[in-house]
Amino acid sequence: MDIEQLEEIFKQEILTCYKNNDWRELLNLNPQSNNKIAYKFLWVWPSVDNLEFIARKLKQFSKKGIISIGCGCGLFEWILQQYLGSEFPVHGYEVNETWWKSRYSNPLFITHHYPSFPIDSKELKQDHILLFCYFNDGDAFKHYIDSFTGNVIIIIGPGDGRGTHTNPEPFRPRFGRIQYDLHSYQEVKNTKDYIAVYIKVEY
Ligand SMILES: C[S@@+](CC[C@H](N)C(=O)[O-])C[C@H]1O[C@@H](n2cnc3c(N)ncnc32)[C@H](O)[C@@H]1O
Repeated sequence: MDIEQLEEIFKQEILTCYKNNDWRELLNLNPQSNNKIAYKFLWVWPSVDNLEFIARKLKQFSKKGIISIGCGCGLFEWILQQYLGSEFPVHGYEVNETWWKSRYSNPLFITHHYPSFPIDSKELKQDHILLFCYFNDGDAFKHYIDSFTGNVIIIIGPGDGRGTHTNPEPFRPRFGRIQYDLHSYQEVKNTKDYIAVYIKVEY
């Protein structure tokens, strides 16, 4: 079987879980997070512990939801939304609407927001956590950070030795002129990918 056929089979398995609202079964499609076919849909295949870690941060910092920048097809965000329930909305932001609406795109698992730049700071709600999962544009990251008036950011990406690259990296983010401190982190299973939580330093 060639890679495209394997991707198609995997996609159908994802879609079956999605249609059945079965996020636990969806997590089980890639239990070791080592299936390279899965990267086409999502870079980080979380554990229930990882979802709980993020849920705890929302409650700890009294935030009302999550804004995920560069959400791709939104599979991580859909899983997270199922886990959190409607009390904590998860919003997905992307660029290149034409591509995402083309026949080449993955199916979308959440509704996309396509911001116009420069971003209106009211759009990035202060009472939400700003999430970057495998984001890969350092300049755009700084632009989002400059526009964000909230104070909690989560970066998911590779630690040392993982062999992949993101910008920002979870432990060496370049925030620019605004200072954030690392608050806590958790590894995604044993993958060397990490969920890192940052808090804005208030003067
Ligand atoms: C490597 S993918 C990660 C997708 C998904 N978060 C995941 O973990 O599988 C990075 C995504 O960021 C999006 N992106 C790039 N620049 C962006 C920007 N300025 N604003 C929002 N999304 C952006 C890309 O379109 C792409 O879908």
